[in-house]
Amino acid sequence: MKIFIDTANITEIREAQSWGIIDGVTTNPSLVAKSGRSLESVIKEICTIVDGPISAEVVSVDAPGMVEEGEQLAAIHPNVVVKVPMIPAGLQATKILSGRGIPVNVTLIFSPAQALLAAKAGATYASPFVGRLDDIAEDGMGLIAQIVRIYKNYDFPTQVLVASVRTPIHFVRAAELGAHVATCPSSVLQQIMKHPLTDIGLERFLADYHKATQH
Ligand code: E4P
Repeated sequence: MKIFIDTANITEIREAQSWGIIDGVTTNPSLVAKSGRSLESVIKEICTIVDGPISAEVVSVDAPGMVEEGEQLAAIHPNVVVKVPMIPAGLQATKILSGRGIPVNVTLIFSPAQALLAAKAGATYASPFVGRLDDIAEDGMGLIAQIVRIYKNYDFPTQVLVASVRTPIHFVRAAELGAHVATCPSSVLQQIMKHPLTDIGLERFLADYHKATQH
């Protein structure tokens, strides 16, 4: 499973990149707004840090606007993936952009039928939001299982990008289910690499070693 970091914060991206485990980056308009920078400048800088797919989201809600914005974003760097919302205009834009060789990430997917339509329109990635489904007492990871099965049934090349990951359980279940990508906030990346027994074990190893080498 590929691991993307879900942020537009350069410090977080640099730190995660230094761990050697990051395959790509996802951003969204809320994350870019939080960075306090323009979409173009932040995407440009991210592309200099991570050599992998970098999702940049359009803010138009009509197909011609999405296509125009998508082309401008794609021109920033060959690694840019244009992110469009799962609405009729988004499907239309996906068809056009993917037909022009521009990879598209269809975002805000909350049902298996939406994921099937995104794949049919030619999306490179489909982003189901698991945390936001859990928030309304629906089964986010159940949706991932359904989409993975449907894509396998028909050999769709579209990759399931598990988004709105909030906990280590989301991450582990995504891998168990065979999702292609999980995009995680920096907080979840920190959580998944930690285990209390690792810390206790290391502390003991070092204490034993220093005790033995003191005299
Ligand atoms: C995905 O690409 C989105 O940016 C993100 O995962 C949304 O997560 P949230 O529901 O925690 O805002």
